[in-house]
Amino acid sequence: MVQFNLPQNSKILKGKYYKDKSGSNNLKKVNVYRWDPSIKENPRIDTFEVNIKECGPKVLDILFKIKNEIDPSLTFRRSCAHGVCGSCAMNVDGVNTLSCTKSHSDISGDLNIYPLPHLKVVKDLVGDLTTLYKQYESVEPWLKTKVGEKTTKEIKQSQEDRAKLDGYYECILCACCSTACPSYWWNGDKYLGPAVLLQAYRWINDSRDEDKKERLKKVADELKLYRCHTIMNCTNSCPKGLNPAKAIASIKKMLATG
Ligand code: SF4
Ligand code: SF4
Ligand code: FES
Repeated sequence: MVQFNLPQNSKILKGKYYKDKSGSNNLKKVNVYRWDPSIKENPRIDTFEVNIKECGPKVLDILFKIKNEIDPSLTFRRSCAHGVCGSCAMNVDGVNTLSCTKSHSDISGDLNIYPLPHLKVVKDLVGDLTTLYKQYESVEPWLKTKVGEKTTKEIKQSQEDRAKLDGYYECILCACCSTACPSYWWNGDKYLGPAVLLQAYRWINDSRDEDKKERLKKVADELKLYRCHTIMNCTNSCPKGLNPAKAIASIKKMLATG
C-alpha cells in the first residue's frame, strides 16, 4: 500500500505553555497556532492561561491580552474591531469568523485559534491573501458607466434597484467564505471563490453599471465560476450573514438564460 508522509517541517508541534500568574479562579486555556518564517522552525501550538475576569468579551480581546501581557511577538491582523473591515478573520474553534465579533464565552472548554485555513501563512494568525486580492482586482470592482465619465454628479438609481444590492454590498472581504470552500482550497489559483464571485455579482447586479455583458463573459469560465459545486460551506461561514452561494447561483442562472 502507498504511504503518504507529511514533510517534516509541516508538522505542527506542541509549543510553549504560559501559566497564569494572576492567581485568578476564572481562567481560559487558549491554544494558538504560531509560526515565524524567520526562525525556520516547525509551526507549533502555544497554550496561554488567560485571566478572563480581566479581559474584554471578544476573542480579539483575548489576543490583545496575550500580546500586551504575555507574548508581544504574537502576530494577528485587525483594524476596526467592530466587524467592519474584515481584517481580523481567523479560525476560532474550527469555524472561520471575525475575532472582533466572536464572544469567547460562546466557547466552552479550551479556545483553539488558527489562521484561516488553506492559505499560506505569513506569520502566526496572518494568512496570505495576495491571490484573493488579485482575483478581486480581476473583476474590476467599480462602477463602469459612460455617463459617469462625463459627470461629477451623483448617478441615481431607483429604490427598487438599490434594494437589489442588499445582501451583497455589505461584504467586507474577510475571506471567511472562500477559505471555507473546498473547491477554493484545491483550485484557489484558478477558481475565483465565493468572496470574489459575490463581489462580481454585486457589480453585475447594479442597475447603473453598463458593463454587465462583459462582466458576465469574464466570469463564464469552467474554472473561474463552475468549480462551485453548491456545497454551501461559504454561506454557512459568512460572519455577516450573507449568501455567496446564492450570488454564484444567480450568475449561473443569468448565463444560462442569456
Ligand atoms: S461574503 Fe461574507 S464571508 Fe465572504 S468575504 Fe464577504 S463578508 Fe466575508
Ligand atoms: S457553494 Fe460553491 S462557493 Fe460555496 S462553498 Fe460550495 S463550492 Fe464553494
Ligand atoms: S477588526 Fe475589523 S472586522 Fe474585525
